[in-house]
Amino acid sequence: MIVILGASGTTGGALLASLSASGVPSRALTRDPDRLRAHLDDAVGDLVETVPADAADTASLRAAFTGARQLFLAMANSPAQVALETRVVDTAADSGIEHIVKISAPAAEADSPVAISRGHHAVEEHLRASGLTHTLLRPYAFMQNLLRLAPGVAAQGTILGAMGDARCNWVDCRDIGDVAAAVLTRADLAGGTYLLTGSETLSYGGLARTLTRLLSRPVRYVDLTPQQLRDNLIHHAHMPPWLAEHVVEIQQLAASRPESPTDTVTHILGREPRTLDAFLHEHLSCFR
Ligand SMILES: NC(=O)c1ccc[n+]([C@@H]2O[C@H](COP(=O)([O-])OP(=O)(O)OC[C@H]3O[C@@H](n4cnc5c(N)ncnc54)[C@H](OP(=O)(O)O)[C@@H]3O)[C@@H](O)[C@H]2O)c1
Repeated sequence: MIVILGASGTTGGALLASLSASGVPSRALTRDPDRLRAHLDDAVGDLVETVPADAADTASLRAAFTGARQLFLAMANSPAQVALETRVVDTAADSGIEHIVKISAPAAEADSPVAISRGHHAVEEHLRASGLTHTLLRPYAFMQNLLRLAPGVAAQGTILGAMGDARCNWVDCRDIGDVAAAVLTRADLAGGTYLLTGSETLSYGGLARTLTRLLSRPVRYVDLTPQQLRDNLIHHAHMPPWLAEHVVEIQQLAASRPESPTDTVTHILGREPRTLDAFLHEHLSCFR
């Protein structure tokens, strides 16, 4: 049995859909099973066992891991993330889980300028020390993040950021879900570290030009200072300060480290990654 921690989330949900589409059963963990059940497609209902579990509660994890061999771990970002993921790894090791697939991040380094990436590094180190087989998926920015820009584009025709003209990698979470499904069902992929991107890079200025074309009205990128972006996210987007700081750190990293695509998704899935153009076409109504 494959257990999915974070099944109601962006990447966990994509994995659940990918496994279900291939007829592979899974156990979806959530703190709110009724909410998850309500969102599940009837077609996947029989393949998915929905089980309550809270990473802050070891007993609930132990019960949820019973009889399972593999675990997918995609934890929401929060100040408690490292403590929660560490507990998940320890409980998994005690409960007979043999293989963990963890969603990490590209700059998962001890001295990363991004605090959440330093946290991913700490959990990666903990996984190494656990002796469990572990696979690390290190995706770049999710295309799905772009939907958070949609209200600003729809209302003011602007994209706010602090990345200058840095070109970033974007990856569709459905490709991350497909890669995770492959890793969990093909023994030859287990144990690797995979840097996941789409097939092209795009700056926020480039995104504004693309949306201008697709929407047939002007969309412009406004490049702010890091402090202006932080203030805007806290005071106008009402983000908690730790999350605003994360967004600023990620954008500063992208501005200082040039990014380029990898062919990992193509190599693993035997097809090209989903494109930004297709993603934007699919979600264009959100930006109108
Ligand atoms: N966004 C990006 O561009 C990006 C890029 C690279 C890496 N990442 C990394 O990707 C990872 C996964 O992101 P995501 O967007 O898939 O996550 P997400 O959608 O924000 O959240 C995943 C799930 O975490 C679960 N969760 C939170 N606290 C929990 C707890 N105490 N016990 C059990 N489950 C808990 C929630 O499930 P319930 O509420 O149902 O319990 C939620 O559905 C993050 O760690 C992030 O750092 C993100």
